[in-house]
Amino acid sequence: MTELMEFAGNLARQAGKMLADKQTKQNRVYYKGSIDLVTEADKMSEELILTQISQRYPEHGILSEESAAKNEQAIMRWIIDPLDGTTNYAHGFPFFCVSIALEQEGKVVLGVIYDPTRDDLFTATLAGGAYLNGKKLQVSSQSDLSRSLLATGFPYDIRVSADNNLDFFNAMVVRVQAIRRAGAAALDLAYLAAGRFDGFWELKLKPWDTAAGCLMVTEAGGVVSDLTGGKWSLHSPALVASNGLIHEQMMSVLRS
Ligand code: IPD
Ligand code: CA
Ligand code: CA
Repeated sequence: MTELMEFAGNLARQAGKMLADKQTKQNRVYYKGSIDLVTEADKMSEELILTQISQRYPEHGILSEESAAKNEQAIMRWIIDPLDGTTNYAHGFPFFCVSIALEQEGKVVLGVIYDPTRDDLFTATLAGGAYLNGKKLQVSSQSDLSRSLLATGFPYDIRVSADNNLDFFNAMVVRVQAIRRAGAAALDLAYLAAGRFDGFWELKLKPWDTAAGCLMVTEAGGVVSDLTGGKWSLHSPALVASNGLIHEQMMSVLRS
């Protein structure tokens, strides 16, 4: 695991540094939907990551946002968001990251999230704890929802789908201290693990948004569930995560 972690950490740093450098240069933007975009930088980051994984671990599977899945039957599978927070990135808003997770027989065993703006490298291994630049992480100790700082996000189909999180947001925003929509789900989860947020929820996430971040949260002592309070899996698009202490209070607002 140490060797894999060193590899994944280096990879996330390299890709993140490339993104930070590229942000100051020309970056072509393409639209996948009316507000869902992908930039040249997303693709460059992905290519850098996938090339190195394929060279070092050719037998491993890969699930990455901007490419077709590879070696789907493999025991080990990398799950990658080469640029989480792409809208922020395209606007020069400095909240974005690279997220890389490794799944073994369907279980996420390693996660790294790198924020090049702050040089924050979040790492976690299953049963090995979560760390920020080598310092052990612990979720917050806030037990009162009304004093909690939460994070959430809205899906790219917000304009055309009623299932767009606005009702949940309206219900929650009057019950908490504040809610941030910072724009990078993986980094939101890393911030929750670091105690910077007390809770997080979102509806239509993909495995590459959540794989590394959810491991980070549970390894820092937090709780992750689906929207009904049941067991969350990588393929559950809706997710509620918290420091554990406010989980039931969040669930009761979301249920109402
Ligand atoms: C998005 C971000 C955003 C979340 C969206 C994601 P992308 O990922 O994580 O915060 O609200 O649901 O799709 O497109 O920037 O990789
Ligand atoms: Ca993402
Ligand atoms: Ca992305």
